[in-house]
Amino acid sequence: MSEDLWSLHDPVDADFTAPQALTGSVTLIIPTFNESGNITELLRRLGDALPDPDHLPCAVLFVDDSTDDTPAVIEKAAADHPFPVSVLHRRTAEGGLGGAVVEGIKRADTDWIVVMDADLQHPPHLVPELVGEGVRTGADLVVASRYISGGSRAGLAGSYRIAVSRAATWLTKGLFPRALRGISDPMSGFFAMRRSVVTADTLKPLGYKILLELAVRCRPGRVAEVPFVFQDRYAGESKSTAREGMRFLAHLAALRSATPLARMIGFGLIGLSGFVPNLAALWLLTHAGMHYLPAEIVANQAGVLWNFLLIESLLFRDRRGHRHWADRAGRFALLANADLLLRIPLIALFVARFGMEVLPATALALVTTFVLRFAATEALVYLPRHTRSRAAQKGTFPCV
Ligand code: GDD
Ligand code: MN
Repeated sequence: MSEDLWSLHDPVDADFTAPQALTGSVTLIIPTFNESGNITELLRRLGDALPDPDHLPCAVLFVDDSTDDTPAVIEKAAADHPFPVSVLHRRTAEGGLGGAVVEGIKRADTDWIVVMDADLQHPPHLVPELVGEGVRTGADLVVASRYISGGSRAGLAGSYRIAVSRAATWLTKGLFPRALRGISDPMSGFFAMRRSVVTADTLKPLGYKILLELAVRCRPGRVAEVPFVFQDRYAGESKSTAREGMRFLAHLAALRSATPLARMIGFGLIGLSGFVPNLAALWLLTHAGMHYLPAEIVANQAGVLWNFLLIESLLFRDRRGHRHWADRAGRFALLANADLLLRIPLIALFVARFGMEVLPATALALVTTFVLRFAATEALVYLPRHTRSRAAQKGTFPCV
């Protein structure tokens, strides 16, 4: 691989205009956000760890969202390194850590990509081992895991973070038992993946958990793991915050609701949870002296509002851009109330026309209006206007 393919001519070029193809065997993608204190040591250890370029052609790509002098430090430290180093500095940190990694993947044209942190919590000497394990076993994805024999999470600061990390791992494994089979540490940010497996266009990363995103959306065939000891941070501070935790939950919901059936189940569960605010409002209003009939109607709106907020933030989070929020809220409320209006004549029809008993007729009407309301909500509130007819023709929904 020739050096000029990995030029450092303008390392802080925000747009990375006219990117050359990044060839060679391995692209090491390292997301950075204010990591100036770690760069020199990281590159020094990588220099020691990576075999000579003839054995494993390797290049380092930093994808940087820093507000400090990290890009300049990278440029300086890169000058006397045996392998090519470049830095892509983004003007807007879209998608956070995960977004940065996807930007790096899009520019990598090597057989393998390796993703690791810049703060030396991921031991650089394992980089060749990760790729080697993939080559040896034919795996598409090799995860550095803290949870298999020989690994540990020594560097996770404090019992609180250990508990949160463990709970997040269980939750995630429980939600994606199939996609994460063979991955004991889906929260790991240190892994090697064959570039050919990654379909960068289908990715919608949200925050920190880029391995989860890749494993669920790209479905690598074979997975291998290598144990590692999660080290202490070398310099600086962790960038993970409580807000990052909320983003993680939203990311889980978006991944889990990627198929129409899963979305319908989510829609139903949210609908059920709406009984709580509905009944609470009814209790409040009737105790405040309102007649129960108008109170029913007002209380129903509390349930509708609750459902709307949850559906917006958990289920259709990435589809809110097609309409103004007031438009969506209005349509949502209309459909939710139409459901109530439709249910009574439907029950009457089932009973009077088809001779059904009242209870099964009511149950059938509930299910019918639920399915109708789900389909109508998706089609009339959250689907982009121009793809609606095409989606209806095919009987499926896009953006899965
Ligand atoms: N480009 C970019 N943009 N990089 C970012 C951003 C961002 O918005 N936020 C964080 N980073 C970089 C950091 O500079 C660092 O190199 C790496 O991503 C990890 O960030 P840390 O702040 O060190 O994360 P952590 O130590 O809390 O989390 C680590 O452990 C988790 C497992 O517990 C990371 O490795 C996670 O990927 C991992 O899941
Ligand atoms: Mn870290």
